[in-house]
Amino acid sequence: MKHFLSFEDYSKKDILEIIQIARKVKAEMKSGIKIPHLQGQVLGMIFEKSSTRTRVSFESGIYQLGGHGMFLSSRDIQLGRGEPIKDTARVISSMVDMIMLRTFGHEKIEQLAENSTVPVINGLTDLCHPVQVLADYITILEEGIENPVISYIGDGNNMTNSLIIFSAKMGFRIQVATPKGYEADSKIIQKALDIGADILLTNSPEEAIKGSNVVITDTWISMGMEDEKEQRLKDFDGFIIDKNLFSKSDDNSIFLHCLPAYRGYEVSEDVIDGDRSRIYKEAENRLHAQKGLMVWLDQKRKQ
Ligand code: CP
Ligand code: NVA
Repeated sequence: MKHFLSFEDYSKKDILEIIQIARKVKAEMKSGIKIPHLQGQVLGMIFEKSSTRTRVSFESGIYQLGGHGMFLSSRDIQLGRGEPIKDTARVISSMVDMIMLRTFGHEKIEQLAENSTVPVINGLTDLCHPVQVLADYITILEEGIENPVISYIGDGNNMTNSLIIFSAKMGFRIQVATPKGYEADSKIIQKALDIGADILLTNSPEEAIKGSNVVITDTWISMGMEDEKEQRLKDFDGFIIDKNLFSKSDDNSIFLHCLPAYRGYEVSEDVIDGDRSRIYKEAENRLHAQKGLMVWLDQKRKQ
């Protein structure tokens, strides 16, 4: 049985298998074919942070596969009142077929997985957001970009970490610009370098965007960092992806953002709402990517 906590535990082969299933399930859905790949299965979805896309895509996804999604807010379950994660994991996994967790510290999802008898999926932690990157990659492939050169400009956060480790595993070049003091996780960077990452780490957005065909950013103020907003807005001055900066990427480059986006901060309106932005396609692909992931995890469990 496999969990899906981070790309660190995944090979290129694993990732390609998930993507292949996701694209097949997407094609089936688009042509009106309904195959209940996960008939009767229940996905427990624990949220300790807000969500629009992750919640809707997992809940719709498991339903479309013939199963049922159970939304569990930490505000309502005993976990939020201090019940140990170990007990939560043992109990919930005795009643459902898969668990998705969105939480703060990554160690919490590791503890959940250690104590769960069913596959655990990371729906975002402070350290990484791998399900988002699966959807990003499907979007990139659908644009006919087989060998992406990815620029990530902004905060070195959970998205950055997942993009770095994903790119290293896939053999893609990634160029990351963050302000000083806002770099990606040093252990993730080291792991990426250990597996031969083709990576540029810089404090210059101009340097990071040059030669790229996929330009990505994310909010400067991730969930849980609201108190740092004032300081961050000062420190991220010059990091907005506006028309001028975007024009320094390849002529046919696309723009991606996991959303929610804050227009006028990390990205200007004319770029995010411009003709090279693929944000809504990317958001829709969350549904297909996660359906592929759940089917793959189910196959692994049965092998
Ligand atoms: N991109 C993403 O995970 O969005 P939500 O926070 O709305 O789930
Ligand atoms: N980095 C953002 C991603 C939101 C989907 C956050 O953690 O809030």
